[in-house]
Amino acid sequence: MSVINARLSNVNYDIHVQKGILNKLGSHITSLYKGDSIVVITDSNVEQFYGSIMDTVLNASGYKTHKIIIPPGEQSKSLINLNYVYNKLAEAEINRGNLIISFGGGVVGDLTGFAAATYMRGIPFINVPTTLMSQLDSSLGGKTAINLKVGKNLAGCFYHPKAVFIDPSLLETLPERVYIDGLAEAVKYGAINDAELFKKMLNANSLEAIKSSIEDIIYRCCSIKNMFVQKDETDRGERHMLNFGHTIGHAIERYFDYQKYTHGEAVSLGMLQITKKSEELNLTGKGSYEELKKLLEICKLPIDIPQMDVQKLISIAALDKKSYENRIKLVLLRSIGSSYIHQIPKEDLKLFIE
Ligand SMILES: NC(=O)c1ccc[n+]([C@@H]2O[C@H](COP(=O)([O-])OP(=O)(O)OC[C@H]3O[C@@H](n4cnc5c(N)ncnc54)[C@H](O)[C@@H]3O)[C@@H](O)[C@H]2O)c1
Ligand SMILES: [Zn+2]
Repeated sequence: MSVINARLSNVNYDIHVQKGILNKLGSHITSLYKGDSIVVITDSNVEQFYGSIMDTVLNASGYKTHKIIIPPGEQSKSLINLNYVYNKLAEAEINRGNLIISFGGGVVGDLTGFAAATYMRGIPFINVPTTLMSQLDSSLGGKTAINLKVGKNLAGCFYHPKAVFIDPSLLETLPERVYIDGLAEAVKYGAINDAELFKKMLNANSLEAIKSSIEDIIYRCCSIKNMFVQKDETDRGERHMLNFGHTIGHAIERYFDYQKYTHGEAVSLGMLQITKKSEELNLTGKGSYEELKKLLEICKLPIDIPQMDVQKLISIAALDKKSYENRIKLVLLRSIGSSYIHQIPKEDLKLFIE
């Protein structure tokens, strides 16, 4: 088993990565939690595949379980569902001495984390992520949020789990497009910080071969994210590096009203576009764009930038959260495996988009 320790200013927690760890969850939790009941928050898809395994595992360790099941999908990260979760926690008479488990993808994780952080000013929680995106990204780092009508992830806070248990065997039931969505972030981690990981995926040379070494890939990605989070817990500097491909990626997602591309697909296009331009501007070593394109293609991620109204895309990208006053922070590759922050005035954004 591989364990990564997150050492933060006020908390310390372990991130466990191991196929089959779900079956041993009960015994791991007994060393973290001495109470007798646990709330499991999940979505209906995860419940259908793994709900009874989770119950069995927790009951076998003597815990009584309460389930809160939300509908699957991004629209569940809402104030309405947050309210629903608060009411269910109250009904189950949960208090700060109890434990909540988030059991699902990033949607369940973000909603559960925010509910856990705010209900009674904080109930301890554990993350058991079930999508690739959540296993290598959203389940660690402490960011929690819900969406508001005016925009995504606008109400949230930093609140860390007591532990994260990542079981890559849960990915076997993931729809192909959801799996591939998460791979875009793995490519990102390799590109910004780990040339060896990038090369390993490239040498695998097929989606199937990448999938067969996913446990190691997840471990490496979590190690990289954890390193950036430790350096910059509240996302004010170093952690921006994790935003590679996201300024243009987010803009593409929004341009198509979140209908045409998944997050990972849009990030794939964002990484390619920024690297194509930064290479042309001699800000990135030659050949990086081609390598990136090759790996994204192996992962079956999109590599063709769609027809868009450039002015409209630029104005959406200029709204990026990582922009301050009139400047915007772009993440560029020095070469594959190495990245840096490049600040530009907003009006120069067109150099990277046109
Ligand atoms: N907090 C963070 O740092 C952070 C980072 C990245 C993304 N996010 C958030 O994560 C969310 C996206 O998360 P996601 O990509 O995991 O999507 P998701 O949670 O919507 O899950 C995708 C789909 O897969 C299903 N599913 C989940 N696990 C499954 C399994 N093992 N087998 C079969 N089906 C399964 C879900 O029911 C859902 O239909 C977004 O809201 C995003 O904002 C947060
Ligand atoms: Zn992302």
